[in-house]
Amino acid sequence: MAPTDVELVELIQILRSRDAHSEIHRAVTRSLENHLVEAFKELQTKGAISKETKDVIISELNKITLHRIAEESGVYLNKLRDKRDYYPEDIIRLRRDHEILEHLINAVTVAANNTEFLAKLSAIIEIFKIHSAYEEKVLYR
Ligand SMILES: [Fe+2]
Ligand SMILES: [Fe+2]
Repeated sequence: MAPTDVELVELIQILRSRDAHSEIHRAVTRSLENHLVEAFKELQTKGAISKETKDVIISELNKITLHRIAEESGVYLNKLRDKRDYYPEDIIRLRRDHEILEHLINAVTVAANNTEFLAKLSAIIEIFKIHSAYEEKVLYR
């Protein structure tokens, strides 16, 4: 899902501020963790995760995709390159994380069953947490 120009400009603006960027990371993580618990409870009590719940989670995951697109649009990479203690490995590592996250987000949307859906969602949350902490460290140090 491609972001609109307005969305992209807003997201790029957020990347300029450590606090705003960090808050986005925390909000997305918190929301996905809550959805994961709810989806798991739904599976336990009703025997399946509803399409409605899955759609809400997938729209939440789209926020990670939009965030990634904004980060890779230039400002983010320029910010890293402008740093005195810039390491090219940092960009490679962060981009690799983005690729893995995108792979898992696509896998969630086509998950064959509820177990696979929850497993992939859990993996995304953990990787996003590790990625966000590393990104904040290298981007604003
Ligand atoms: Fe990122
Ligand atoms: Fe980020």
